[in-house]
Amino acid sequence: MDKKKNQESVILIIFGAAGDLTWRLLTPGIYNVYLDERLPENFALYGIDSKDISEKKFRDQLHAGVDKFSRRGKSKSEEWKKFESGVNYLQADFTKNETYQKISQWISKLEKEWDSKAIKIFYLAIPPDFIETVTSRIGKAGLARDRKNTRIVVEKPFGHNLQSARELNRILEKTFDENQIYRIDHYLGKETIQNILAFRFANALFEPIWNRNFIDHVQITISEKLGVEHRGGYYDHAGALRDMIQNHILQLLCIIAMEPPVSFDANEVRNKKVDVLHAIRKYNRDDVHRYAVRGEYDSGWIQGNKVSGYREEEGVDPNSGTETFAAVKFFVDNWRWQDVPFYVRTGKRMAEKISVITIQFRPVPHQSFPIEAVENWQANRLVLSIYPEKGIRLRFQAKQPGLKMLLNPEDMTFNYSRAYSGQPPDAYETLLMDVIEGDATLFMRVDQVEAAWDLLMPILEIWDSTPPTDFPNYSAGSWGPEDAEALIAKDGHNWILLQLNKEEDNEENK
Ligand code: BG6
Repeated sequence: MDKKKNQESVILIIFGAAGDLTWRLLTPGIYNVYLDERLPENFALYGIDSKDISEKKFRDQLHAGVDKFSRRGKSKSEEWKKFESGVNYLQADFTKNETYQKISQWISKLEKEWDSKAIKIFYLAIPPDFIETVTSRIGKAGLARDRKNTRIVVEKPFGHNLQSARELNRILEKTFDENQIYRIDHYLGKETIQNILAFRFANALFEPIWNRNFIDHVQITISEKLGVEHRGGYYDHAGALRDMIQNHILQLLCIIAMEPPVSFDANEVRNKKVDVLHAIRKYNRDDVHRYAVRGEYDSGWIQGNKVSGYREEEGVDPNSGTETFAAVKFFVDNWRWQDVPFYVRTGKRMAEKISVITIQFRPVPHQSFPIEAVENWQANRLVLSIYPEKGIRLRFQAKQPGLKMLLNPEDMTFNYSRAYSGQPPDAYETLLMDVIEGDATLFMRVDQVEAAWDLLMPILEIWDSTPPTDFPNYSAGSWGPEDAEALIAKDGHNWILLQLNKEEDNEENK
């Protein structure tokens, strides 16, 4: 985007500003956008929280967050000073109308000072229980009346199940129009994920083979080494299916499986994605055990350090039956994907932090080479890696140099860090700029959220109503429970991973 393209005035009002999100992600994001000169001259950030801290303390906290988490590293004193002059803090009670009157006064004062109508962004970095309180008061104070210039950003968790997600949507809709609502899924802001759209729809090469005739199956793995850290209280009521599959993983699946959009208009892209969600087979409750696996980590070893089991984590019920690992086999029932399995898995305290999508192609229809030539032969495979490697690998067969015809799998690779210098923007930078510019392409529309919940409800219901008898069932530092291996092995496949820092698979590392 051109520098300073956005010349409008912007007021960013963060509810829950003293919390982790503002410190860790939002401020480093907005600060980098500022350094890139993409924020308008007229920009103000108002943090609102019930925490009793001074404005100075608030600014210092944000400063520390930038120094710690910004992709650019420590800030330069002069630059930060200039930025922080536009940062304000209000210690306030979200339930009091006077809080919203104050906000209204700020807005009027700034718009007068700037002599222009500002884009007002209400960012809800608050627990879901507060959303109704805050949005209804925003409405009551008349703060959402300027439909064109007022936006609301909502963080996950977006509901706990289909019913609560619907309720949340109805609450938001009472005050805001759908096109004012930006539901964040930070995965969609990642460069590597946006690149999948470029890869699929800006190249003629892959589209003709991107279907059931050539693709055997698809795998999506998002594994984390960390446990639940200080988020035990939230996580113990969520679990891996709600925390990762309902949103990030299903969104990735949609990007892989969607039909080509006619344009990159926000609604057109989201229409194509929601079509995928509607085509994904919804399981009967009786089928859940065949297609979904859950796990909970026990204590174990990670990089030589002993780590606790999930039930020993802070904020977690010592008898918890919450899954910290989930794997599901999905089918997309349409012409393009009928009978092609999409295996997805995610978990905490696993052996590596990896986010990767693998498109496994079918074998060649006929093997013309002699048996000894094809001992190492592997079907083509496309690996779209999001983390830690950021790039794309296409596996194909090559002749090993020598007098004999011997085939070996080799990779053609595209690697971001080798191809481009400098750091790509973080997801929050991209997403915050999109909100400012009013581009909702990378945000979850109401029907996407509800369709994703609807799809998972049978699994959630069965898991919630039948406590697991074998938890904990995987050791920290492993690749999850054995049942997850069985889920894919019974179809004759195995989970494919990239071996870190090597050019090979790490199948032997599993
Ligand atoms: C969040 C989940 O949405 O995504 C966390 O709530 C998870 O539990 C995180 O750790 C993973 O994000 P990333 O970008 O580190 O893969």
